[in-house]
Amino acid sequence: MHKDMSQILFDQETIEQRVSQLAVDISKDYEHKHPIIIGILKGSFMFLSELVKRLTIPVQIDFMAISSYGAGAASSGSIKIRKEIDAEIKDRDIIIIEDIVDTGISMNSLVKHLKMKEPATVKICTLLNKPAARKIEVKIDYKGFDVEDKFIVGYGLDYAENYRQLPYIAILKEEIYR
Ligand code: IMP
Ligand code: MG
Repeated sequence: MHKDMSQILFDQETIEQRVSQLAVDISKDYEHKHPIIIGILKGSFMFLSELVKRLTIPVQIDFMAISSYGAGAASSGSIKIRKEIDAEIKDRDIIIIEDIVDTGISMNSLVKHLKMKEPATVKICTLLNKPAARKIEVKIDYKGFDVEDKFIVGYGLDYAENYRQLPYIAILKEEIYR
């Protein structure tokens, strides 16, 4: 384990077994459909690549990058679009792929933003969910794992752009971010 971690929550094998099951669920739910997968950069990159390899339905893949307005941990309730999607999503089935839903503020405003483009359906697929941190209700359609209200890194998730490459999901030691 990396020296900055206090605990590994999910190892690579556990994550990939769960991702395989999500791929089965999504492939079944979207049978005979052709959804557009929208990965939210950068945190979803590893989850997305493992998930799409295992889908048995045709999909298109696009990416968006967002950040919350204002600095610091306190979110202001809206997002800034840093990279807009390229795809035309009107009347299409959309699946948003996210690394973690924490307060829910980003996902809530992202869904509102995408719905203005009149897609047929919008569903949310997140690797991690932190229910104890929720401030706005978000309906999650597919989720990998629930996590406790600690700072989580690895498998795409970062702290100050580090640790995204770790092949497992871990709790970052408090002394690193305090
Ligand atoms: P929310 O708007 O509070 O739900 O925050 C969502 C975004 O904050 C996620 O997409 C992550 O990029 C980031 N985030 C929230 N919690 C964590 C964490 O524990 N580790 C790493 N990033 C996090
Ligand atoms: Mg993110």
